[in-house]
Amino acid sequence: MKIAVIGTGYVGLVTGTCLAETGNDVTCVDCDREKIGLLERGEVPIYEPGLAELIKRNAAGRRLHFTTDLASAAAGARLIFLAVGTPSADDGSVDLSAVWEVVAQIAPHLTPQAIVVCKSTVPVGTNAAVTARLKQLTGRDCPVASNPEFLKEGTAIEDFMKPDRVVIGVRSQEVAEVLWDLYQPYLRTDKPLLTMSPESAEMTKYVANSLLSTKISFINEMANLCERTGADVNEVRRGICHDSRIGFAFLFPGVGYGGSCFPKDVCGLAAVARTHGLKPRILDAVHEVNLRQKTVLGEKIERHFDGRLSDKVIAVWGLAFKPGTDDVREAPALVLIDRLLELGATLRVHDPEAMGSVRRRYGEKLIYCDNRDDALEDADAVAIVTEWKHFVHPDFDQMRRRMRRPVIFDGRNLYRPQRMQQAGFTYYSIGRPPVRAGQ
Ligand SMILES: NC(=O)c1ccc[n+]([C@@H]2O[C@H](COP(=O)([O-])OP(=O)(O)OC[C@H]3O[C@@H](n4cnc5c(N)ncnc54)[C@H](O)[C@@H]3O)[C@@H](O)[C@H]2O)c1
Repeated sequence: MKIAVIGTGYVGLVTGTCLAETGNDVTCVDCDREKIGLLERGEVPIYEPGLAELIKRNAAGRRLHFTTDLASAAAGARLIFLAVGTPSADDGSVDLSAVWEVVAQIAPHLTPQAIVVCKSTVPVGTNAAVTARLKQLTGRDCPVASNPEFLKEGTAIEDFMKPDRVVIGVRSQEVAEVLWDLYQPYLRTDKPLLTMSPESAEMTKYVANSLLSTKISFINEMANLCERTGADVNEVRRGICHDSRIGFAFLFPGVGYGGSCFPKDVCGLAAVARTHGLKPRILDAVHEVNLRQKTVLGEKIERHFDGRLSDKVIAVWGLAFKPGTDDVREAPALVLIDRLLELGATLRVHDPEAMGSVRRRYGEKLIYCDNRDDALEDADAVAIVTEWKHFVHPDFDQMRRRMRRPVIFDGRNLYRPQRMQQAGFTYYSIGRPPVRAGQ
């Protein structure tokens, strides 16, 4: 099948590559010339495990192409996927300008067989509005399907290749069958392809992300309460999560959720609720709790040093909003860095993948360390913000020797407090009582 994917970011590039892997003829389009230039030269503009190999194989097999020429990619394509960004506007609603731009650009090139498939996360009603706009522009009915994407950065290839489910919102059986054919190779382990109305498909994506965000904000609020009351949130977590009605997933306390999806989708859904005259009390609270949670680690550091950070060196382990990606959009690490810089601290930062994006944002304001241990040199404390695997088992003796003071602020609860005290550290984590070295 000839396919065009418009928008070659985290979702578009993975989608296009994985669709080429099953033999389709895919062209990935982007208006960013630099990004397409890199891809044409065989370089990958983002970090996603396994993606580079897959791009290389499919590009070499001439099933995967890259271009900035949207017209040539759209002409003759049976499926045209929209995978452009849908960021938050200033008022929290969803900025659909890239979607409208692409709709206007593809309209003259759609063949009568073409099906437009919206993979971008868009508010309910967008499918109907795109359908109406295409009719206006082309003078005929062009089918538009909604196919929200559930992949997670860091495991995107695995998620696309073996999804828990595929959701398609369609208005005709014929469109459903084309998408069923396309997705069959990815659903071999009896995972369902769920066909529903475009409105339900659009809502499904926002409801899923909002529920996951709610779980995170909920456990973070409970963690803060545990800390005040002397309880240990990890023990409480075990106490509740063995209940089969609750389960373990997405109930890890931490420094708040980031990334390009959860923050904007919670706000986007809240904005939709408001336009329909509903007050989204839970969504507003989830967002507010999360904004607050991103400041928690910085506040612990500030309190520990009595606000005097201008002569302190703080190491920061982890910058990406989660492990397995170089994405720092809305990352909690940025909130921490901004606050510590404001207080005059010197920051030695390390992340295995996200240093480039952070350097573009902060330039010479930070000291960039290529490895975990260098970041600790003469540090008065280390703050752990992203739970990369190589932070889980450091050599604690060596850490203590390198640091000026043995103090850890762990935003991801990687270690056991008692163990850290035995190892000679003052140790703060989330939702658990702190322990002090030498006590
Ligand atoms: N990142 C994720 O983990 C994830 C997961 C599921 C769904 N989504 C949704 O998928 C969509 C894309 O997200 P992303 O993270 O891939 O975004 P991204 O910012 O990484 O990529 C979007 C790409 O679209 C390109 N673009 C913008 N306007 C264009 C135009 N007019 N013509 C051609 N290209 C254009 C941009 O240059 C960019 O490369 C969003 O709606 C997002 O909410 C993202």
